[in-house]
Amino acid sequence: MNREQLASYQPLHVFDEVIFENVVDDLVTKGFSIQENGLPDFITQALLSCQKAISEAEYKRAGIGRAENYQQAEKVRGDEICWITGSSQEGALWLSWCEAMQLYINRSLFMGLFSFESHFACYEPGKFYKRHVDAFKGQGNRVLSLVAYLNDKWQEDDGGELVLYADESDETGTKILPTKGTFVVFLSEAFPHEVLPAVRTRHSVAGWFRVNGSVNDNIDPPR
Ligand code: OGA
Ligand code: MN
Repeated sequence: MNREQLASYQPLHVFDEVIFENVVDDLVTKGFSIQENGLPDFITQALLSCQKAISEAEYKRAGIGRAENYQQAEKVRGDEICWITGSSQEGALWLSWCEAMQLYINRSLFMGLFSFESHFACYEPGKFYKRHVDAFKGQGNRVLSLVAYLNDKWQEDDGGELVLYADESDETGTKILPTKGTFVVFLSEAFPHEVLPAVRTRHSVAGWFRVNGSVNDNIDPPR
């Protein structure tokens, strides 16, 4: 390598695969995985520094399509989101960690995960996301959901739990506190879930691994 090549050389990150193995084991036995303190510290720090750099103006009300009515959407979800593009080093590090997880899962489970997309979400006090599924059978191509949390010292009294339901008929679910360092992975079509209102501002990252799909001969069209 000459000096110029050396200057632009991006080393491939080597990530600890133990956490990916734990996720794979859980996916095989339960279809979901809750990893408290599962985010490597440098990934949490990268996400936090990214999240803190986002200005108010960059957060957009989620779920407000052109055809949608503000009041209707507000009844379902009240979060504001900002997509992660990887334009910052920290954003790129997060995406490369997720890509490493994608490769690990594909090698272990042959899931054929093809791409990943993710956004920051901010829920102001009182905001929520009603029970929903991230993908409908036979539609779209989100197959695996990932949510990671960035909130210091989150207490039970703060609310804002993610509730993950085992199936359509489950009314009890499993509650997960959105504590910094925790991440959750689950099969997108299988688990209805919701975000309960919180008394504090709640920061999370939601992401989806997709399989390849085509619509009108467009390979892997954006959603
Ligand atoms: C979502 C979602 C859960 C969370 O954005 O689809 O379900 O805990 N998020 O933030
Ligand atoms: Mn969801």
